[in-house]
Amino acid sequence: MRVIIGKDYEEVSRLAADEIEKVVREKPACTLGLATGSSPVGMYRELSRRCREEGLDFSAVRSVNLDEYVGLAPDHEQSYRYFMDDNLFDHINIDKANTYVARGVGDPDANLAEFNAVLEKADVDIQVLGVGPDGHLGFNEPGETLWDGAHMETLDESTVDANARFFASRDEVPRRAFTMGMGNILRAGKLLLIISGRKAEAAKRLLFSDKIDPRCPVTFMRLHRDAVVLLEKSLADEIGYQG
Ligand code: GLP
Repeated sequence: MRVIIGKDYEEVSRLAADEIEKVVREKPACTLGLATGSSPVGMYRELSRRCREEGLDFSAVRSVNLDEYVGLAPDHEQSYRYFMDDNLFDHINIDKANTYVARGVGDPDANLAEFNAVLEKADVDIQVLGVGPDGHLGFNEPGETLWDGAHMETLDESTVDANARFFASRDEVPRRAFTMGMGNILRAGKLLLIISGRKAEAAKRLLFSDKIDPRCPVTFMRLHRDAVVLLEKSLADEIGYQG
């Protein structure tokens, strides 16, 4: 695992964008595994700028997203499809037909089968990740076991709390979500984790221990042979990590 400390969120976002840019320049028809949440927003802003001002070309790029809330339609402002359009796809020259976010509405079994079929074919070159305060990746919540493939998860109460900030009230947070499984994540060619926000516990578990623990899913990143972890200096200082 390569751990990089940026001086602030802006620098972390630029460094994360560098990793994506490298992949896109080397392989213009690459597949990006993308994530939502506030952590990658700065990186998406920077990639949009590079596309607009520096000609970073996404025209042949494909993408597949980590997760989606069950029950939210694509035009719901808190759906992850809406988030991706709003934060990235509407600002770069990607063909939206080549972007995939699992369907939140309709028959859940059919939606899940479709998600798994897409993942089966997708050869993800780089997977962007954020981490939940409880260590979840995508919506792979802590537990005794983790899943290999895409599945439906019931959100932990702590995840509902953490994500309530995006909704008008806590009651509106969907309780279920589709997510890539840990196997899908680990099969990506490269992992790019951005740790931002109140993540001290999860960061400590990842950076200070070599235990792989399903009760802290982010620790599974240690099994990957090409994983990059980016965090801000303030968090590194808070947990006493010196690299
Ligand atoms: C959600 C998403 C995760 C994301 C996490 C952290 O639960 N499903 O993929 O990593 O939130 O979000 P944030 O970056 O806003 O802290």
